[in-house]
Amino acid sequence: SEVEKSEVETDLSGYPHYMLKEIFDQPEAIRNAMRGRLDLEEATAKLGGLNMNPQQLLRIQRIVIVGCGTARHAGIVGEYLIESLAHLPVEVDYASEFRYRNAPLDGETVVFAVSQSGETADTLAAVRESKRKGMRVLGICNQVGSTIARETEGGVYMHAGPEIGVAATKSFTSQVLVFLLLAVLLGRLRYLSARQGKKLLEAIEKLPEQVASVLARHEEVRAIAEKYAHADGMLFLGRQFQYGIALEGALKMKEITYIRAEGHPAAELKHGVIALIDERMPSVFLCPQDGVYDKNLSNIAEVKARRGPVIAIASEGDDRIGELADDVFFVPQCSELLAPILTVLPLQLLAYYTAVGLGRDVDKPRNLAKSVTVE
Ligand code: G6P
Repeated sequence: SEVEKSEVETDLSGYPHYMLKEIFDQPEAIRNAMRGRLDLEEATAKLGGLNMNPQQLLRIQRIVIVGCGTARHAGIVGEYLIESLAHLPVEVDYASEFRYRNAPLDGETVVFAVSQSGETADTLAAVRESKRKGMRVLGICNQVGSTIARETEGGVYMHAGPEIGVAATKSFTSQVLVFLLLAVLLGRLRYLSARQGKKLLEAIEKLPEQVASVLARHEEVRAIAEKYAHADGMLFLGRQFQYGIALEGALKMKEITYIRAEGHPAAELKHGVIALIDERMPSVFLCPQDGVYDKNLSNIAEVKARRGPVIAIASEGDDRIGELADDVFFVPQCSELLAPILTVLPLQLLAYYTAVGLGRDVDKPRNLAKSVTVE
């Protein structure tokens, strides 16, 4: 109700902005997203809200993920997670494109609609179009009882709590966590061993603490933000599990600072992006210890050779990155599957502190709405 809403809206818990409060809500938000859903005994995830039994889950041949803005970026991370753990083909699309495409779908395809608000017009239209075509549509929503939650056959609630800042933060990490659980569940019905499943669940359990430990070092990000606040633009580069994070980092930056920011897969540098590099165009590289770490180092060297400043988000214990990058922010070591939940945090903080430094209206950026309910 309106009354409840206004009560929630006044509760900043001592933070200067909702965005900062919601960034710091994240240990609790992801704890809520995993509560009751980790089955260590069976080494799998429990997602009863999907309303699908193991036989039905096993029949899924293909997954389509639709959403807008930040929700689509979480879907991209989800694509890599599901493909890697469950070996299922996944396609991610903008809800606005998907709704008007004549995408070939069949009965073995499941459509996931990702939406914090559950009210985004294009995402809702994609839900309705998929249902019209006879598809099973599931929701990943935050708002309980929202239109998308009601119109889907089932799904997973994020339980992130109210998100008021226009720039999505805690809903993103909660969405990624939900995809991680989904990937474990689908994986355990297919190729993932009990041993691997258990290892992942145990690592997932540690995430809230790791998130808190990264956020505790927010002043380090503030210092980096101050150094680059007057950049002409900013590039965000990542590969594989970090590709969606590069897109999300750029989106956060442009949404609230109005700095021209672009996110790309790091290897696309050579295909045009590198033309933008000079000493006033910093690049943020997402390069934790993962399968493409060495590839990222080569890309960093290419940027440095063109005098581009480099900010690296790397894993603790990495003693090579400091020689290449101008600034480094370290995140705890973890599986490459979980790293996106940690690496996105400094990017949220980077956008936040840059916006504050530039005097922007962080919670209500120009031209943007929290929920886009018209086409
Ligand atoms: C708007 C918001 C974004 C959000 C997007 C999708 O553009 O400003 O922060 O990611 O809508 O919203 P949804 O509620 O569907 O996740």
